[in-house]
Amino acid sequence: MLSLKTLPLLLLLHTQLSTAFPVPAESLEEKNTKFVQNYLEKFYHLPKIHQSERKNSTSVIVEKLKEMQRFFGLNVTGKPDDETLKTMEKPRCGVPDGSDFMLTPGNPKWENMNLTYRIRNYPFNLRKDDVETAIKRAFEIWSDPTPLNFTRILKGKADIEIGFFIKDHGDNSPFDGPNGILAHAFQPGYGIGGDAHFDAEETWTNTSRNYNLFLVAAHEFGHSLGLSHSSDPGALMYPTYAFREPSTYLLPQDDINGIQAIYGHSSNPIQPTGPSTPTACDPRLTFDAITTLRGEIFFFKDMYFWRRHPQLRSVQQDFISLFWPSLPNGIQAAYEDLDKDLVFLFKGNQYWALSGYDIQQGYPKNISNYGFPCSVQAIDAAVSYRGKTYFFVNNQFWRYDNQGQFMEPGYPKSIANTFQGIERVDAVFQQHDFFFFFSGPRYYAFNLNAHRFTRVGRGNKWLNCR
Ligand SMILES: *[C@@H]1O[C@H](CO)[C@@H](O)[C@H](O)[C@H]1NC(C)=O
Ligand SMILES: *[C@@H]1O[C@H](CO)[C@@H](O)[C@H](O)[C@H]1NC(C)=O
Ligand SMILES: *[C@@H]1O[C@H](CO)[C@@H](O)[C@H](O)[C@H]1NC(C)=O
Ligand SMILES: *[C@@H]1O[C@H](CO)[C@@H](O)[C@H](O)[C@H]1NC(C)=O
Ligand SMILES: *[C@@H]1O[C@H](CO)[C@@H](O)[C@H](O)[C@H]1NC(C)=O
Ligand SMILES: *[C@@H]1O[C@H](CO)[C@@H](O)[C@H](O)[C@H]1NC(C)=O
Ligand SMILES: [Zn+2]
Ligand SMILES: [Zn+2]
Repeated sequence: MLSLKTLPLLLLLHTQLSTAFPVPAESLEEKNTKFVQNYLEKFYHLPKIHQSERKNSTSVIVEKLKEMQRFFGLNVTGKPDDETLKTMEKPRCGVPDGSDFMLTPGNPKWENMNLTYRIRNYPFNLRKDDVETAIKRAFEIWSDPTPLNFTRILKGKADIEIGFFIKDHGDNSPFDGPNGILAHAFQPGYGIGGDAHFDAEETWTNTSRNYNLFLVAAHEFGHSLGLSHSSDPGALMYPTYAFREPSTYLLPQDDINGIQAIYGHSSNPIQPTGPSTPTACDPRLTFDAITTLRGEIFFFKDMYFWRRHPQLRSVQQDFISLFWPSLPNGIQAAYEDLDKDLVFLFKGNQYWALSGYDIQQGYPKNISNYGFPCSVQAIDAAVSYRGKTYFFVNNQFWRYDNQGQFMEPGYPKSIANTFQGIERVDAVFQQHDFFFFFSGPRYYAFNLNAHRFTRVGRGNKWLNCR
């Protein structure tokens, strides 16, 4: 079974393989056409089209495809390109995407702020009390920023009925077995209105394994309360599944804005705020850490990273937790040791080693291993070059001998004295005998042969922003 953690890598592999071993073009195209049409029928209200009519309905399909590409922020090509197919293959919610506006058309809402829910049945593989905890917390996510109040009932008809079903279960929206569609929910209203259904053939968990019930339930209850899908990739109401650590999960600001637009604020004197998704081309964008990894460049920011492919110059944004569920958000420094083929990531006084995408055994370790004094509790930036690793902390830097495994004498030194023109470093990486320093929203290219800065520019030029 395809696990989500490995999905992007497998897809990447698949793309590479398909160039190495070309599949007969026609059959692949035919398969893709059916797949795309099926997706657009389910999630973009494309009317059912028979094979015989396909020719004269091409323009309808292209329009729907463009609508989907706009929603997900892809290139609006009207063609099922790789990026589009990859997005369509992600596990997701069964509710259609409609528009990129977050409120459901017609603005359905509950008039009563005291709502009841009932858990009708349970999945096979998760304990009852774990299900109940996940469901309770998923409601709290929505009651915290609003006047809504959810009460569980054990008998009678609840406003929001919760159940686990397989395949066709009598509401015209059949489930599809493992992966694919995970769940769906109905907008506020009588009868089935507000109810949330989960695909009983998924493996439901309370961990980072697919699929975390709390995360999926919290998303579905957004629909039960009247929200539609958001095109903000960091929003809970984004249609595709992405793992986020449940124990520290905060409802993103986009979802808070959406739910408060319907029900207003909670009476809590301290209003909850949530994380906002960083946007690549925000002129104020700064980075937490940057490193190369086997030729690609990784730019870390909060719970996200962007990854830049050097030849394709393409940039992709993703969750840190999607690739490395056990890593924390907010990585502060990172460097690649080319001799060991390892990447080291730092947060506070802990660090992790990655071989490719795999976190090595025995980590996290304590940065005191490098020989830092106790006063150093976190590192701003790090970079390795010709067997030495440079660590930047406030306005100073250290130099570590990778082979000898010791901090070189004579350090720390002042950053401003050695790298004249900068004082503090948010992030740095090395490429072609240059150190690229990032400080605030700008980057500074330091030529390691000439020992001087030769270029300055906006940091997010590296993310293809003008
Ligand atoms: C396709 O062609 C048939 C026959 O010409 C026509 O009746 C039908 O309306 C067309 N469908 C669309 C979607 O244009
Ligand atoms: C919700 O129920 C509580 C207790 O039953 C009541 O005090 C409160 O006024 C109700 N709130 C609303 C908005 O109906
Ligand atoms: C929520 O509902 C329960 C049950 O009706 C009630 O006891 C409680 O006071 C309500 N809380 C609020 C904040 O309305
Ligand atoms: C997850 O479920 C297991 C098994 O029921 C339980 O021991 C564990 O405490 C749960 N973890 C969380 C975070 O709820
Ligand atoms: C969009 O198209 C441009 C130009 O063809 C390309 O450089 C870029 O990588 C594409 N982006 C995506 C997400 O496919
Ligand atoms: C890391 O080492 C420092 C210095 O030896 C110590 O003060 C600190 O408690 C250690 N931290 C952890 C998480 O072990
Ligand atoms: Zn949904
Ligand atoms: Zn259903």
